[in-house]
Amino acid sequence: MYFDPAVSMRPAPFAHSPFKSLIVPRPIGWISTIGKDGVGNLAPYSFFNGVSDDPPMVQFCPNGSHVEGGAKDTLQNVRDTGEFVFNMVGHDMTDEMNISSGPVPRSEDEMVLAGLAAAPCEKVKPLRVRDAAASFECVHVKTVDLPPSRDGSPNNLVIGQVVGIHVRDDVINEQGLIDVLKIKPLARLGYMDYTVVENTFTLNRPS
Ligand SMILES: Cc1cc2nc3c(=O)[nH]c(=O)nc-3n(C[C@H](O)[C@H](O)[C@H](O)COP(=O)(O)O)c2cc1C
Repeated sequence: MYFDPAVSMRPAPFAHSPFKSLIVPRPIGWISTIGKDGVGNLAPYSFFNGVSDDPPMVQFCPNGSHVEGGAKDTLQNVRDTGEFVFNMVGHDMTDEMNISSGPVPRSEDEMVLAGLAAAPCEKVKPLRVRDAAASFECVHVKTVDLPPSRDGSPNNLVIGQVVGIHVRDDVINEQGLIDVLKIKPLARLGYMDYTVVENTFTLNRPS
């Protein structure tokens, strides 16, 4: 079938918009920030990815507004401070990640709410999730104002340069490689579904 998303995102026979189910699996950027008032913040963003290797850069997309109105905390904090931290979500942190996505007041720190231990960063002020398999300290490069949603709510793309990388020692194997099967990264599918990286294969490029 074919459909025009400007006409409907959910034409028959779809029960829900299939869009996000067709961009899968999406890595989850678990983004920690700090407000100009010093309140910490943590939230998952699955419109997230790396965008370059050298220099290393990542992006995430805050879409919509905060429950109290205005920009989502993560976006507002990046606007105010120019810094954020990407934390990797392993399968073992699924519940904490989900708790951190709740519609809580701006004054609430989701890292505390989720019962997570925090650790300081080397070069940026936001705290990182201490037990995450990896955390990237990021400084803001650019925010792109994207076309708004049909209901007028904002869409943004935030790009940051990675200036510090923390890796949990136990996920580095004896060959000096990241043991992804030990991390079991959590990833987002469509609807309310998730997947976990539990198997891999190797494919060399043609020479
Ligand atoms: C797995 C997962 C992925 C999410 N991805 C996004 C996303 O890419 N963009 C977005 O705006 N909201 C996303 N959300 C919703 C935000 O996490 C939620 O709105 C959160 O309250 C925002 O927090 P903040 O205001 O502290 O930034 C996601 C939620 C979950 C559970």
